[in-house]
Amino acid sequence: MNRAIDPVLVEPVRDALARPLHDLRISVIDRCNFRCPYCMPEDRYAHDHVFLPKDERLRFEEIERIARAFVALGVRKLRLTGGEPLLRRDLHVLVRQLAQIADVEDLALTTNGTLLARQAQALRDAGLKRLTVSLDSLDPATFRQLCGGRGEVAEVLDGIAAAERAGFARIKINCVVLRGVNDAQVPDLVEHFRGTGHIVRFIEYMDVGTVNGWDPARVVPSAELRARIAERWPLRTLDSNYRGEVAQRHALVDGSAEIGFISAVSQPFCGDCSRARLSADGKLYTCLFAKAGFDLRGPLRAGASDVEVQALIAQRWSARRDRYSELRARQRATGNNERVEMYEIGG
Ligand code: GTP
Ligand code: 5AD
Ligand code: SF4
Ligand code: SF4
Repeated sequence: MNRAIDPVLVEPVRDALARPLHDLRISVIDRCNFRCPYCMPEDRYAHDHVFLPKDERLRFEEIERIARAFVALGVRKLRLTGGEPLLRRDLHVLVRQLAQIADVEDLALTTNGTLLARQAQALRDAGLKRLTVSLDSLDPATFRQLCGGRGEVAEVLDGIAAAERAGFARIKINCVVLRGVNDAQVPDLVEHFRGTGHIVRFIEYMDVGTVNGWDPARVVPSAELRARIAERWPLRTLDSNYRGEVAQRHALVDGSAEIGFISAVSQPFCGDCSRARLSADGKLYTCLFAKAGFDLRGPLRAGASDVEVQALIAQRWSARRDRYSELRARQRATGNNERVEMYEIGG
């Protein structure tokens, strides 16, 4: 069926704070084979936890239709996330569908890396452009602690090696830093990936969701980490790749690496936030900290046309005022901390 969208209705939308809609992060599954304590703590999500039943997940065709509607409204970058997206069967088929959408300039995936060794080549062949792998520690014991005892660091390193062989370069390595847990190991990550062309990014631990028991004392501000790294490798700042880029980029002055800092707690970046998030059950979230999502699956399954789906998204985006990170202190003080969980929208 021709899903072309009526060109008359195609125009970029802006939210109530004049922010365009540029990125769509698509969660393809809410399950994960890890239990990172900052996201899905094991005691809250034990082996018998019930996740989304399969028929409540968007099918690939539905994801593609929704993605096309977002692209018509200005989205140029798609990122697949989870839970763990590589748990979704035949993900490369979806990648191929999305890679064929005209005007999509960037197609990326964020994964914990454990299933990458088996899938890297198929994803590359299907048209995936960029890869981000979460890796919090190279030390086997710390790694195990930070994945809730469900994985091994060697699997992730094997996954990265397979991705390199499949042709992925400049892989982003995401490390969530927790004071007293893995902060002392930050230089080890820099050292390990220096000279590989990959980009390690250190993420401040955030109060996402409702179950991670966020403790501000565990947040290591990026400025502190930056100073610590600069003692060993002098750094210089780099310009952003694009407006609204989440990470602050730095280069090691010796030219051996680029690193980044994602400082969502110490230096919020809501002002330029152009990211929408789609959950595996087809809800649109306009913020990582949103209380609720806006259902797109219902209208889609009830027969809404492409133009109608576009109009729903445009309406929702136009009304958007989210800027949680900038209001964090005030929001938390209200005691109303209802929020979507991180694994439902993939960060
Ligand atoms: P690039 O396209 O490579 O720039 O990737 P990205 O940084 O947009 O995506 P990635 O999934 O690597 O994001 C890194 C992490 O930054 C996420 O997992 C979140 O922890 C955090 N992050 C991303 N977007 C937002 C956001 O809009 N708000 C907040 N508070 N944190 C975000
Ligand atoms: N704070 C910061 N980053 C987080 N992530 C998951 N939970 C948190 C949190 N509480 C990151 C993961 C991964 C991405 C999907 O989100 O480590 O890199
Ligand atoms: Fe960890 Fe990502 Fe899984 Fe959450 S979704 S438990 S951050 S691997
Ligand atoms: Fe965007 Fe919400 Fe993150 Fe601010 S807190 S950058 S509005 S997702």
